[in-house]
Amino acid sequence: MNVLVVGGGGREHTISWKLSQSASVETVYCAPGNPGMDHDGIEALSISDYEELAQFSLENNVGLVMVGPEVPLCEGIVDIFRAKGLKIFGPVKEAATLEGSKSFAKDFMKRHGIPTAASAVFSNAADAISYVTNEGAPIVIKADGLAAGKGVTVAETLDEAIAAIDNCFEGAFGDAGYSVLIEECLIGEEASILAFVDNHTIKALESSQDHKRVGEGDTGPNTGGMGAYSPAPVMDAALWAEVEEQVLAPFLAGCQADDLDYRGIIYAGIMATTDGPKVIEFNVRFGDPETQAVLVRMESDLAEAMLATIDNQLADFEFQWSSDPAVCVVIASGGYPASYEKGFAISGLDEAAAAGAVVFHAGTSYNDAGAIVNTGGRVLGVTAKGETIQQAVDRAYEAVEKISWDGSFYRKDIAYRALSR
Ligand code: AMP
Ligand code: GLY
Repeated sequence: MNVLVVGGGGREHTISWKLSQSASVETVYCAPGNPGMDHDGIEALSISDYEELAQFSLENNVGLVMVGPEVPLCEGIVDIFRAKGLKIFGPVKEAATLEGSKSFAKDFMKRHGIPTAASAVFSNAADAISYVTNEGAPIVIKADGLAAGKGVTVAETLDEAIAAIDNCFEGAFGDAGYSVLIEECLIGEEASILAFVDNHTIKALESSQDHKRVGEGDTGPNTGGMGAYSPAPVMDAALWAEVEEQVLAPFLAGCQADDLDYRGIIYAGIMATTDGPKVIEFNVRFGDPETQAVLVRMESDLAEAMLATIDNQLADFEFQWSSDPAVCVVIASGGYPASYEKGFAISGLDEAAAAGAVVFHAGTSYNDAGAIVNTGGRVLGVTAKGETIQQAVDRAYEAVEKISWDGSFYRKDIAYRALSR
């Protein structure tokens, strides 16, 4: 069979790369794809309309469709493809609201006893400001809807909190910001838990940890993720047991009770607090760049895992993992996450691959002369495994150092929490 991956970032490059290793897969199509995928023999499609993509799939023996980003899931791509009899991995539109609306996700967690930060929802600035004035800082302000990872402010001071509220109601996030969630600030170490889920079963993948801040030592503004590693040592056996019992099992039971058809991946952002694990957020798709670090460690067949999930046979599927840790270091454009210049030729890609790393592309394209240039904020995810986390870090950075373009930068401390244990 052929497979179709929807999306064109680092996560989709990784998923396509992994699917192309499946015995049952002939061609991997990716819409829109990126130059790194071209290099790996993945076929780029320039179709973006969901009906047209479904038609393409029907005509081209596509036996599995995988959706990378949240936006198509929240727009109902799964419902459209299923109505045509296509096998697509992901939640239906209603279930995708677990990511599309933070207040919907909060209500779900409260209803089903999943531990999370205390919160309140506001639809006007005055009430929100009087609430934070009463609660005091630190406090967390979140645009309710999808804001491409930029809608969250962890406010250290009351002034910062008020500015974040004003920003939302002044339209910084469009409709996504006219409803605002205000949350208790949780303290602890974070971990990303990805789990496959079908209508009967939930199975966690190996843990990972992301680095969301742009600067070393987790300083500076939030980004889409500057690097990741897997496994996350904070996820010891005791914490895993709590996550299974308090988060994953009630998540499945909640989907069943609410009649949400969820056959895909659920991402739970976990804060390990002194009070046990608390869910910071649910995402209804793979994390980026966690996927890069997790999937290079997966030894089982990803296409089979996805088909088993779609067919409600996940209970019979066993995931196999390499015990070697993996690290992904993101190389970004100068200025990111604020504005940055695009179009600089990237050098050293082949040398980095020769050094033993896998270079997943996120924000690249071809210029008129056919050179690969930076076009996004996060541009490449350089990923390597090792027998130890230190060896994985050393291999990833050895490759990273071979790559550059005007203004490129990366964090030099990816995995520092794991290394310092
Ligand atoms: P999100 O966009 O929901 O992933 O949030 C981005 C980041 O903000 C998270 O990874 C956390 O580091 C931080 N964050 C979100 N909610 C909270 C909270 N209630 N307490 C502390 N930090 C938070
Ligand atoms: N790395 C965080 C996310 O994918 O949302």
